Amino acid sequence: MQAQTQKIVVLSFTLNNFFLTTPIYYVNAQPHLGHAYSTIVADSVTRFHKMLGEDTFFLTGTDEHGDKIVQAAGKQGRAPQDFVDEVSASFQAVWLALGIANDHFVRTTDAAHKRTVQMFLQRVHNAGDIYFGEFGGHYCYGCERFYTEKELENSLCPQHNISPEFVSEKNYFFRMSKYLPWLKSYIEEHENFIRPRRYRAEVLAMLESGTLEDLCISRPKTRLEWGIELPFDDNYVCYVWFDALINYISAIGWPDGPNYARYWPGEHLVAKDILKPHAVFWPAMLRAAGLPVYNHLNIHGYWLVRDTKMSKSLGNVIDPVDMGRRFGLSAFRYFLLREMRFGEDASFSEDMLITRINADLANDLGNLFSRVLSMTAKYFESRVPAPFDLLQEDETMAELCLNSMQNFVQLFGNTQFDAALESLWETVRGLNKYVDSQAPWALYKQGNTERLATVMYVSLTSMRKVALCLWPVMPEASRQMLVQLGGDVAENTPTPPVTDLKLESSAFGGLVHGTAVAGASNLFPRIEVKKEAPANAKKQKN
Ligand code: MSP
Repeated sequence: MQAQTQKIVVLSFTLNNFFLTTPIYYVNAQPHLGHAYSTIVADSVTRFHKMLGEDTFFLTGTDEHGDKIVQAAGKQGRAPQDFVDEVSASFQAVWLALGIANDHFVRTTDAAHKRTVQMFLQRVHNAGDIYFGEFGGHYCYGCERFYTEKELENSLCPQHNISPEFVSEKNYFFRMSKYLPWLKSYIEEHENFIRPRRYRAEVLAMLESGTLEDLCISRPKTRLEWGIELPFDDNYVCYVWFDALINYISAIGWPDGPNYARYWPGEHLVAKDILKPHAVFWPAMLRAAGLPVYNHLNIHGYWLVRDTKMSKSLGNVIDPVDMGRRFGLSAFRYFLLREMRFGEDASFSEDMLITRINADLANDLGNLFSRVLSMTAKYFESRVPAPFDLLQEDETMAELCLNSMQNFVQLFGNTQFDAALESLWETVRGLNKYVDSQAPWALYKQGNTERLATVMYVSLTSMRKVALCLWPVMPEASRQMLVQLGGDVAENTPTPPVTDLKLESSAFGGLVHGTAVAGASNLFPRIEVKKEAPANAKKQKN
């Protein structure tokens, strides 16, 4: 008997780590479409990085201290803790309903967070970057901040259009201005630190304007008790923004937790309303504490409803769970990523949602799955056939598929979600045309089994590639598509169907001949819009 020699190949590689956060949302209102957008985008981006084989961590949570919260609790006659527990729980329930797979949910009332904030404050204080001083300013309770004379518009708060109160008191200040020259050169040297570019320009203009001063980081307990006590003066609590920003490292166990070492520095995703605290306060705070700054700050625009920002008082708030329930969660998630150009504002309306669902999902994608699977059932008893020689038109289709997939990967990684999906749809529409032009039904009639097998193989293989790319955006629909194509993907899982998306986009193939596929598919039924008859319809008829 011949001795068997075993060759052991040791593969050594390092995983890329990817840490992404959403803003931690205020618990003074229930979650709406705006919060859902940031969280769905962050979920999709994290899933995308998982498909590139990266070791990911996705964080979201709630911001629970400050005046705003005390006032909201007071309106309901509730104690703050009782109130924040309830609203924070409803954020968590909404994320569950929207298929969000966060690795941790941080609350600023968590004991671990409070300890971390105090440690951070003490460190910056020890370094001499926190001082005590007298300060008088125009304080807006809505914004929870002081405004300088210059920043007010007609003596009113520019955000709330109300007259701020003049408050004069002794407080603690963070020597933020000391770090601004460093920050300016850092942003100039790192082109992608703040993106898209227009927001980078906005921050540089802010830094050049000379209006930025040291940051008041305390509130006397006589005025506000609902906050984290300063470790060096128990008459004061910490300013809510200084407290909140630290969530990004408290949640991963700074200073010595294993997740901090593993994941920091990460990336943040927020909308333009909170550009300044993230682009100015936070990097200065990190620098003062001697920590590396984050890798990227990704800024998106607002969802508008009839041209105005959603707000509870205007009564134009969209409930994301209701949208998911009525139109399908996958379709809703697709719409959000496809419709908004990241960085710019976008309008939301049910009409636009329905139009997109009917055009892109029902007509293009759903129809493709339905027709190709029913033909595979009829011609090959629902088994993936082995292809014969590829003709020019098959090669062209396969090339289109790989090219559009490569563009998808590149654009999605660059936060250009709309363009990425548009690029993927070149394959979806291309496939429908390919099926039309190759006319499998005619090949079947002619008894041309070889061509028929090749056309079905090319179609099914391309469909699997599309389904894979869609997993980050619409995990449930992608799972159904992959299962229909004979794959084995569990429901509601944060584990991606593949971890080599780049490799998948570089070679055509991946479907094994003989695999059993579904006999029919009805992924995205068309939504019929009932047109209301005009009031004078009868009159016109007569
Ligand atoms: N608590 C702070 C954030 C602290 S982060 C350290 C806060 N909370 S918030 O509840 O007001 O959430 C603001 C965020 O919600 C925005 O930055 C954005 O992510 C999301 N959105 C709220 N309304 C929105 C729209 N109309 N459109 C898009 N996103 C919006 O600020």
